[in-house]
Amino acid sequence: MPDASVQNQILDYRVVLETTTRRTDAFLRAFIDSRTGIPSLLKEAIDYSLFGAGKRIRPALAILSAQAVGGSLDDALPAAGALELIHCFSLIHDDLPPMDNDDLRRGRPTNHKVYGDAVAILAGDAMNTMAFELLAESVPDAAMAIWLTRELSQATGPGGMIGGQILDTCYPQLKHVDTQAASLESLQRIHRMKTGALIRASCRMGAICGRADARMLDRLDVLGQAVGLVFQIVDDLLDVTSSQAHLGKKTGKDADIGKLTYPVLLGIEQTQAELHRQQKIAEDVLEHLGAPAEPLSAVVHALARRDR
Ligand code: IPE
Ligand code: IPE
Ligand code: MG
Ligand code: MG
Ligand code: MG
Repeated sequence: MPDASVQNQILDYRVVLETTTRRTDAFLRAFIDSRTGIPSLLKEAIDYSLFGAGKRIRPALAILSAQAVGGSLDDALPAAGALELIHCFSLIHDDLPPMDNDDLRRGRPTNHKVYGDAVAILAGDAMNTMAFELLAESVPDAAMAIWLTRELSQATGPGGMIGGQILDTCYPQLKHVDTQAASLESLQRIHRMKTGALIRASCRMGAICGRADARMLDRLDVLGQAVGLVFQIVDDLLDVTSSQAHLGKKTGKDADIGKLTYPVLLGIEQTQAELHRQQKIAEDVLEHLGAPAEPLSAVVHALARRDR
């Protein structure tokens, strides 16, 4: 039985996520439904992946980062929605046969298993472009819209998530030329890019929406980088330690297909040590941010301990 403080933290985390998720979902629903001329098959495929049982972590980080620097939930909704569109697009493409070739996502067949490869590719493409359409249309301050567009495009593009997906996808073909030291470096680079960049951008974009000053933006940046690494390290650990029934996606696949992950390279114990190191960096920032960052802190703590 967890003690009272741990119980409060669990409670806070669920309540906080319930609100950020409900508001993000309603915002995305209204945005998608207000688009005209989308062919119905494409709309169905977009809906299938955008409104599945995702944890909505990136929207939560954006909204709670805005609140941590004195902004409001409403200020951060366009950033939250745009980040989730990019994230869901990245998952559709990540699951495709030439990439991770996965059949199951969030407890359901993957997008290409339901709609076929061509529709899945195009649904992902559409969500990528809609993320930027959403920012252009919904952020009332033009200078802020441009700033957010730059943050999101850099985090998504060749120096961010897409660049990381290339390194991740091609690593099995390249590994014979890697030494162990080079591998650790490659691993950290892949994590920072494929997952870290979008999570870092979630904290940064939230802070920007909350009109953070330069010092606060720096703090949220450091937090976002640490949380990004924590997130992918836990994802890699769960691939080894959890089950398909619990996670809603296939497990034990990273080692099978020759992916470079922390557990594969360093074993479970050293992976946990790296996880704690990154967690400590995040906790130090959260302590400095104080009371306005309490909801953010509850979510970050839960992320490090998550089991799905
Ligand atoms: C899974 O992300 C892919 C990674 C970047 C590790 P999430 O664990 O946030 O996926 P959903 O949205 O909750 O399904
Ligand atoms: C995905 O990493 C990173 C993305 C950019 C989507 P993984 O390939 O490890 O994510 P899962 O395990 O399929 O969710
Ligand atoms: Mg992958
Ligand atoms: Mg995958
Ligand atoms: Mg994974």
